[in-house]
Amino acid sequence: MEIAHAYNSSYADLARGVKDRVVLITGAASGIGRLATLEYLKLGAKVAAGDINHDTLKTLASECEATGFAGNLFTCTVNVTKYDELYDLFFKTQEKFGRIDVVCANAGINPGGDFMSSKVPANVRPDMKVIDVNFVGVLYTSHLAVRFFRENTTAKASEKCLILTGSMASFQAMPSVGMPYSASKAAVLSLSQSLAIQGVAEGFRCNCINPWFADTNILDKAARLVLKGIPLAPIHAITQAFILATATEATDQAWVIDEHGLWELPNPSIKSKVVDQFMSRFVIGLKLKKALQRDAYKRYLSIAAIAAGAVAVVWKLFN
Ligand SMILES: NC(=O)c1ccc[n+]([C@@H]2O[C@H](COP(=O)([O-])OP(=O)(O)OC[C@H]3O[C@@H](n4cnc5c(N)ncnc54)[C@H](O)[C@@H]3O)[C@@H](O)[C@H]2O)c1
Repeated sequence: MEIAHAYNSSYADLARGVKDRVVLITGAASGIGRLATLEYLKLGAKVAAGDINHDTLKTLASECEATGFAGNLFTCTVNVTKYDELYDLFFKTQEKFGRIDVVCANAGINPGGDFMSSKVPANVRPDMKVIDVNFVGVLYTSHLAVRFFRENTTAKASEKCLILTGSMASFQAMPSVGMPYSASKAAVLSLSQSLAIQGVAEGFRCNCINPWFADTNILDKAARLVLKGIPLAPIHAITQAFILATATEATDQAWVIDEHGLWELPNPSIKSKVVDQFMSRFVIGLKLKKALQRDAYKRYLSIAAIAAGAVAVVWKLFN
């Protein structure tokens, strides 16, 4: 499956762009995260792999020891819903590898259980763990990514990249068991769009990878039963989407990976003049705020560039 053709280059060409990047990935010990970790390592990246499951993380480390990748791998047990633990992962990664270029907020769960079940008394608070891991965890990871990108003065803006793992459920809402899961993944997609805009002002990229069901540990018996006979997304195509997001200059992309491979979906944002005007001003404001924090020489250069951009926006408004 050739997913790179959309970017007019071969996968081998793209893969070269990954060498020596410092990649932090959550949910790295199983399924999509595990394969992405191995692919990044194979292509010469340095990887900080975080996961809540200490044992599977240890297995991943031993596997890398055997294949000779261990020198470029740092593993750390982390629960993404615990901000302090996540901060520790970012801090130690920067300490070990000198900087953080790419962050993959990938950890996710789908614990099942009917969200609206009548078996649970109505006065019992429903379980919100899926929102905590799939959304709050991704928010924490994105927050820390941006904070640590700001400290990375070595990488170019195009080399700093956030990749959020959404799902086909980001677009296709599900009832019952899937309700909080699809809501969490729609929120992840929305967050990726906010971050992509923030990235224009701050100098980083953000994309959202949205797989159809794939054969990993997240699929329980019930899901496998419902999916019987329906083709799944090949995991290697999902893994390649991480490499594509890392090595190209793509930003604000919502890629779907289904049984056929990777699809680029048009950004669903509203195309209207008032929204465009509001967003342009918003981004100019963010750029200005960042420019004012720079030292004198760079500050004046940045302000001049922003002023030129603002003039272009006003020109567009009256023409
Ligand atoms: N496999 C699919 O069908 C599918 C489809 C669409 C999206 N996704 C998404 O892909 C991502 C990866 O899932 P997967 O399919 O590889 O499943 P998986 O269960 O194989 O891997 C998920 C990993 O996340 C880790 N994890 C869970 N909770 C965590 C926490 N609180 N802190 C840190 N790590 C935690 C798990 O220990 C596990 O190693 C998830 O965000 C999932 O929602 C999966």
